[in-house]
Amino acid sequence: MATTILVGAQWGDEGKGKIIDVLTEQADVVVRYQGGNNAGHTVEVGAEKYVLHLIPSGILYPGKLNVIGNGVVVDPLALLEEIDHLKSRGIAVDGNLLVSNRAHMVLPYHKVLDAIREQSNKIGTTKRGIGPAYSDKVGRTGFRMVDLLSPEKFSAKLRLKVRETNEIARAFDQKPLSFAKINADYLAAGKKLRRYIVDTIKLLNRLERDGRQLLLEGAQGTLLDIDFGTYPFVTSSNTTSGGACTGAGIPPHRIGRVVGVMKAYTTRVGEGPFPTELLDDQGAQIRETGKEFGATTGRPRRCGWFDAIATRYSVTLNGIDELAVTKMDVLDELPKIKVCVAYKLDGKLIDTVPADVDDLSRCKPVYQEFDGWQTSTKLIREFEDLPKRARLYLNKIAQLSGAKIGIVSVGPRREETIFL
Ligand code: IMP
Repeated sequence: MATTILVGAQWGDEGKGKIIDVLTEQADVVVRYQGGNNAGHTVEVGAEKYVLHLIPSGILYPGKLNVIGNGVVVDPLALLEEIDHLKSRGIAVDGNLLVSNRAHMVLPYHKVLDAIREQSNKIGTTKRGIGPAYSDKVGRTGFRMVDLLSPEKFSAKLRLKVRETNEIARAFDQKPLSFAKINADYLAAGKKLRRYIVDTIKLLNRLERDGRQLLLEGAQGTLLDIDFGTYPFVTSSNTTSGGACTGAGIPPHRIGRVVGVMKAYTTRVGEGPFPTELLDDQGAQIRETGKEFGATTGRPRRCGWFDAIATRYSVTLNGIDELAVTKMDVLDELPKIKVCVAYKLDGKLIDTVPADVDDLSRCKPVYQEFDGWQTSTKLIREFEDLPKRARLYLNKIAQLSGAKIGIVSVGPRREETIFL
């Protein structure tokens, strides 16, 4: 297995944490390449449940190296909290975790700006400061992890940034931030994190050339990508496979496989168009059965039918070789299941995601209806043992999406997985 990229093929929350966990068995190194602690990857191991926000899900496998790549935005205090939490639960972190010295940092003023921007331009963000941190990166005024290692330089630049933010905060009647507190907190965090901060580019490329298996772990989903998603209702990074190369520092020709994770239905958190959204009892039923509440913010997720137009777009864009279909068991009880096979926009049929979100908001889904299998799939471990109607459904969504299925997940645990 050459280097594998794993991406979310929908609007995030596809169950990437579980699939990464399953694939980690064959990997030596797991790398996060974008996003920050807006992500929440849930993994269940035995009776234990873990929610990871910044640290790659591979940390739960003893002896695997986990890398937070240069494309991630890291809140050092949140990272320390996650490290301490994992250690308190007996997970070995030291020696298994490294952070790129080029990764940008999320600072408290990014969260203040995130909240202020939400007042006038509501995206429904996680309020973790992700957008403002990436804005600073692109605007060339950001802080990187390497800056924590030069306290004097860090403090001088921080003083200016806090002053600048406080002027904005004042204009919006927000409490000013204390330079002294942020400076002390972050320099203290820098001392604790120093042992993890390295040049991951050199290291990852050396490991890759030595034949080690790299697994690049995407966060959020394709339809939340800053370039290809439902802009402006997106996150601020490239969640797609191209982003894995820039966010980990691995050349594109070294990528061997792209795995796309998608739910057997669709969910979305936050604002923005969602053509197959179910605002009725059916949507509420899927939310309850699928426990569709945000792993980071606890917000109820919007639920809807599978959207083959959105997933075909993802397959094309990411070059997905193999699909992992998750939460198949959530549909077990339903008598009828629908799949969106086209959109109708102003009376015309279209088969692609329009660039303009206002157009996407006006798109009406055209559905194909399937009979449900109405029996539990949770204990099934072989594709052939799935009910005929479930196989028919899976084959249809794979065909419509344009890629073959490699994995079907029928529950949150490692063993509740079917490999094809
Ligand atoms: P931000 O990433 O916090 O700036 O939020 C931007 C949009 O992406 C909002 O609609 C969020 O709900 C969504 N989002 C961010 N992270 C996740 C995630 O991990 N899963 C699902 N949606 C997310």
